[in-house]
Amino acid sequence: MKIPADRGRFVTFEGPDGSGKTTQLRLLYPWLVEQGYPVIVTREPGGTVIGEQIRALLHDCARTEMSAQAEILLYSASRAQLVAEFILPALDAGKWVLCDRYYDSTFAYQGYGRGLSLDDLRAITRFATQLLKPDLTLYLDVSPEIGLQRRAQSGEALNRLDRETLAFHRRVREGYLALAAAEPERWITVDASLPVSEVQAVLRQILQTWGEKLQ
Ligand code: TMP
Repeated sequence: MKIPADRGRFVTFEGPDGSGKTTQLRLLYPWLVEQGYPVIVTREPGGTVIGEQIRALLHDCARTEMSAQAEILLYSASRAQLVAEFILPALDAGKWVLCDRYYDSTFAYQGYGRGLSLDDLRAITRFATQLLKPDLTLYLDVSPEIGLQRRAQSGEALNRLDRETLAFHRRVREGYLALAAAEPERWITVDASLPVSEVQAVLRQILQTWGEKLQ
């Protein structure tokens, strides 16, 4: 598969905690490279030195005093740095940038989950992203019950958001479903309750078809 070198593409991966995005991206990356796609992978929050420092602060379970407003500004600061330092230059260089979470996480978690005004979040997001919108968003859908159980069994340290209530995680998922329904031309929903290998096969098929359409 040969993609013209001058056309960068921006693909984001979204999903509730425990949806398996990170595992899927780890499996997808070498396969896409093998297929000849000029891909690079990054994540939010993080992906730059500044962003990773912000990530540590955001995920620190000891920081229970963090206000919802400070939280959104920190996620947005990490995003602003990632867009300016990494994503825009990579797209200019013709890369396919695959990003583990992007601004839709803010709408799902801070908007639907925490109940912050979506209009405020849109204004902050416009400023932070320089209006950069994903070309494609792959949404790995899983119920909060399954997602949280997977997280608990993964052995990974739980972060500040993992420790939120089940009701919070239910609102986050409802938020994702609403966001996907509002922009069907950008979002593709994948059933992430399936085994890892099946989800991976579906994602490969989607990206291959999408890549072919771009030629
Ligand atoms: P993850 O990188 O392991 O998915 O963890 C990121 C956590 O941060 C996850 O619980 C979702 C949350 N998050 C937000 O609440 N808002 C955001 O804008 C982003 C990017 C992540």
